[in-house]
Amino acid sequence: MPKKIAIAADHAGFEMKTKIIAHLVKKGFEVEDLGAHCEDRVDYPDFGFKLATHITAGKADFGIGVCGSGLGISIALNRYSGIRAALCHDVTMARLSRLHNDANVLCLGGRVTGQVTAEDITDEFFKTAFEGGRHQDRVNKLSSCGAA
Ligand code: RB5
Repeated sequence: MPKKIAIAADHAGFEMKTKIIAHLVKKGFEVEDLGAHCEDRVDYPDFGFKLATHITAGKADFGIGVCGSGLGISIALNRYSGIRAALCHDVTMARLSRLHNDANVLCLGGRVTGQVTAEDITDEFFKTAFEGGRHQDRVNKLSSCGAA
């Protein structure tokens, strides 16, 4: 079980974020809410960047980012070295993102994924460990941004 999870969302992910926090807290996880704190319109890059810097600073072990589609916030998060954000629409993608990619941020789309599915995805993500082995070298290469 990860020690600390930070979560952030824009206005379109606010409702899903609120329910995911309740779901995780009920299961005994420690969750830090980085906002947004209401449904007033905001910009997903601001919350993606806030979550990314929180994790790269070592203030959380894992993150969850939510926007309307999950796309914008995952793009914002993946601009940071050391962040491996995976947009997951089903449980299989959640499992593979952990097994093969050692994803450290789960991204969800509040307008495109049902709440029960989102909770199942979240459970799968946090119960699955990185497989390592042949996948470790590939994950290491991500940090080099393809530079020789
Ligand atoms: C907000 O309207 C929406 O564009 C945003 O939440 C997200 O889906 C962007 O990728």
